[in-house]
Amino acid sequence: MTQNVRTPKIWTVILAAGAGHRFGTPEELPKQFQQLGDPNGAKQSVLDWAVTTATGVSDGVVVTIAPDMRDVVGFDATNIQIIDGGVLRSDSVRNALAVIGDDVELILIHDAARPLATPDTYERVINALKDGADAVVPIVDIPDTLRHRHPQEATIDKATAHDGIIQDSTVDRSTLVAVQTPQGFRANIIREAHASSDDATDDATLVERLGYKITMVDGDRLGTKVTHQSDLRFLNAQLAPAHAGIRIGHGYDSHAFSDDPSRKLILGGVTFESERGLAGHSDADVIAHAVTDALLAAANLPDIGQMFPDTDPVFKDANSLELLSQATQAVESVGWSPVNASVTVVLDAPRIAPMREKMSQILSEAVGAPVTVTGKSTEGTGAAVGVTAHAVALVTQ
Ligand code: CTP
Ligand code: MG
Repeated sequence: MTQNVRTPKIWTVILAAGAGHRFGTPEELPKQFQQLGDPNGAKQSVLDWAVTTATGVSDGVVVTIAPDMRDVVGFDATNIQIIDGGVLRSDSVRNALAVIGDDVELILIHDAARPLATPDTYERVINALKDGADAVVPIVDIPDTLRHRHPQEATIDKATAHDGIIQDSTVDRSTLVAVQTPQGFRANIIREAHASSDDATDDATLVERLGYKITMVDGDRLGTKVTHQSDLRFLNAQLAPAHAGIRIGHGYDSHAFSDDPSRKLILGGVTFESERGLAGHSDADVIAHAVTDALLAAANLPDIGQMFPDTDPVFKDANSLELLSQATQAVESVGWSPVNASVTVVLDAPRIAPMREKMSQILSEAVGAPVTVTGKSTEGTGAAVGVTAHAVALVTQ
């Protein structure tokens, strides 16, 4: 193994030989081989996460895997020892103990299904052993109210809740804790506990049966076990950056007034009769164009000029709302949906205030999300030779 040998020498067993029945993906790989974390980042399975943390704090790591999974799982085993697991969890532990040398004094046992157990939790377990504990378990409190229910009731139907729950059976939560892994043991004690063929859902239970004292240290909610699909979703959410799934885009457009008296002024889909129109290949609706570019930018797509080239006769006098709708579809086709857009149009005349609501309604319909229109005059800071618009759009996955 690559680490410097610690004193005392520490090895970690990672249990990854279960079938994951409660996770329930019979056609897919069991839960410990499911992907966890950034889908665009390095592909890491639940097991990979567990192994990475364990190798950081141990002199050696043994991973138990079901024999029929050995070929299915491409696992980088340079730094660890992979062995066959057994039918029961305790069988898997026994197989692992058999390959750990007698010179190892402290043995940690960890569920692969707890991929985000923190290095701090490992450290607390190890320090308690170094301080002389026989067996150490990380614990967390139980935030939910607990009740007994009739054992035969698999689920509790809301309508018949009283048939499932035993009346007045709330459990005193203050005396209860949830026990996690990694659990740590003096090697001779865990070997003694597994000398018989008993099974338990954790190793401390077997040690306790022999009369040894179990020391409790703080665990961490991140050390929760992937049991059901929702547990994996929860852990994925913990790893996702806060901004994942949201993007912003900015768009800008500007058109000069046209000398062509037949050109109409169209802004935000509204035609301003008897106003001087804007020059352009399409209908020159700067507001619709700015919103279109903001959406395309948010979805990291080519801009309006690339998507609807003005050299293409198809787009001659094109209805910009139609282009906005097509751009929205393009955004959606790459997995994003518009949340909202905001556009500011800069012009001195005509006043757009009376038409703001109408524009907003037309643009919102094209985008399928609220589009707010704000009007600004140039306040004499620029020669009013045309109309400009600036837009931002937010999209979500
Ligand atoms: N485990 C193991 N060998 C077994 C049974 C379980 O190595 N014979 C491992 C699992 O892979 C898991 C850990 O022990 O990492 C905790 O067990 P659990 O959460 O119960 O996993 P499964 O037994 O796979 O799931 P289920 O009980 O839902 O079938
Ligand atoms: Mg199990």
